[in-house]
Amino acid sequence: MSEPVLVERRDDRVVATLNRPDKRNAIDQQTIDALHALCAALEAEPRTLIITGSDGVFASGADIAQLRARRAEDARRAINATAFIRLSELPMPVIAAVEGYALGGGAELAYAADIRIAAPTLKIGNPETGLGIIAAAGATWRLPEIVGAARASELLLTGRVLNADDALAWGLISSVHPAHELLTAAHAIADRIARNDPLATQHTKRALRAPRHEHPDIERELQAELFESEEKRRRMTEFLERRTERTPQGEAGRARR
Ligand code: COA
Repeated sequence: MSEPVLVERRDDRVVATLNRPDKRNAIDQQTIDALHALCAALEAEPRTLIITGSDGVFASGADIAQLRARRAEDARRAINATAFIRLSELPMPVIAAVEGYALGGGAELAYAADIRIAAPTLKIGNPETGLGIIAAAGATWRLPEIVGAARASELLLTGRVLNADDALAWGLISSVHPAHELLTAAHAIADRIARNDPLATQHTKRALRAPRHEHPDIERELQAELFESEEKRRRMTEFLERRTERTPQGEAGRARR
C-alpha cells in the first residue's frame, strides 16, 4: 500500500504531500499517524514545512468512512485536532500550498498552517453541519482569528465553500498562483525564511502564536535571549561592516556630491 503522506527532506525544509488521490486525500487514521511521525521529526530537527496534496487536491476532509463509525469517546480523543495542533506548534513555519478541494478537516489542516497560498482551483470550506457534526479540528477558533468572527460565522454556519478569489479577498490565503507554479511559490517563501536567522524565526512564530495575556512579556524574554546570541552579533556586524566598506567612495561619496 502506498504511503498516505509522501515526505521529501531537504537541508532547510521538508515537503509533505498528502497522498490518497483515489480518496481525494481524505484524512484517515493512517494519514494522522503519518502527520504525527512527521511532526516528531520536525520537533527534533526544526525545519520549515511545506504541506500540499497530490493530484490537484489538498484534502477532501476527514475520511467519512472512518468518521461515520466513530463514537463519543473517539470525539473526545480529538484525533484530527490533536494532530493539527501539534503541526501548528512546530518550531519553524508551516506553509500550506493548497490546490483544489480543502474541505472539512482538509480546510482545518490548512488553517493550522502559518502561511496559506493557493491555486485558482481552490475550494475551501467546512461542510460539517451538512454531515451532522461540527468542525471540531480547529475551525471554530482558528477561522475567527484568520478571517474575523463575522466571516467565520458565515462560513461555519452555512457550510459555504469559497473559491480562490473570495478566499484571497477574505484574507484566508495570502496569494494565488497558477497550479503549476504553486509549489515553486511555496519554495520561494521557504527560501526567504531560510535566509533569516532560524532562532529569530522560531521566536517570532512563538510570539505570533502566544495568547494576548502573554504579551509583552513573551517578546521581552525571547528578545533577551536573541540579544545574547552570537548569530545576532554576526549578522549586525556584517551589516555594519558592509556599510563601512561602501562608505568612502560609495554612499557617502555620492551623498557629498
Ligand atoms: N472521506 C472519504 N472518502 C472520500 C472523501 C472523504 N472526505 N472525499 C472523497 N472521498 C472518496 C469518494 O468516496 C470516492 O471514493 P470511491 O471512488 O471509492 O467511490 C473518491 O474519494 C472520489 O470521490 P468523488 O466524490 O467521486 O470525487 P469528485 O472529484 O467527484 O468530488 C469532492 C470531490 C471532494 C467534492 C467529493 O468527494 C466530496 O464532496 N467529498 C466529501 C467532502 C466533505 O464533506 N468533507 C468534509 C468531511 S468532514
